[in-house]
Amino acid sequence: MAFELPALPFSYNALASRGMCQETLELHHDKHHQAYVTALNNFVEAKPELQGKSLDEIILAVKGDATQAPVFNNAGQHWNHILFWENLSPNGGAIPPALEAKIKEDLGSVEKFKEEFKKAAVSQFGSGWAWLVLAPNGKLAVTKTGNGSNPLAEGQGKALLGLDVWEHAYYLDFRNRRPDYITNYLDKLANYEFAEAQLQAA
Ligand SMILES: [Fe+2]
Repeated sequence: MAFELPALPFSYNALASRGMCQETLELHHDKHHQAYVTALNNFVEAKPELQGKSLDEIILAVKGDATQAPVFNNAGQHWNHILFWENLSPNGGAIPPALEAKIKEDLGSVEKFKEEFKKAAVSQFGSGWAWLVLAPNGKLAVTKTGNGSNPLAEGQGKALLGLDVWEHAYYLDFRNRRPDYITNYLDKLANYEFAEAQLQAA
């Protein structure tokens, strides 16, 4: 069973008034994400040892193996973008009470969480991702990963939110101003309801 590009959970112009235009979503979802899915399917077709495995299983099977880096990168990017679309919302930015309480308990305050997340996302040199995770110790933590990697591959815990900081995610809307893209995400686009649901399910 081949991997498939999931449909966006909102229309292509749903985020246009909140800092992510239709053209960004068309290119990012239909071209970039689709390219990762296509490449991954081609690798799986050519490698019998990967067939029948789930996406998580493939990522964990090939991580750290330099000869399998192209498989890892495309599988990781498919995993990352599935979460990314779910964690954007036309009604984003509002943090539900249970998640807010957990943020305050583990990270000090909402302001401190945002500050830490911005620092991680800005300082990810080159392409990569910033994450809010439920760490293996049961506490929230902010992390970052390079290129196609993610919290699953790096044992950082369960991902609650993930922000794509590859240039393809923000260049049309924010040009080189990655910090503004991050602030806009945290205040207007982040689907904290999704993050809270992930937390409850953990
Ligand atoms: Fe992306």
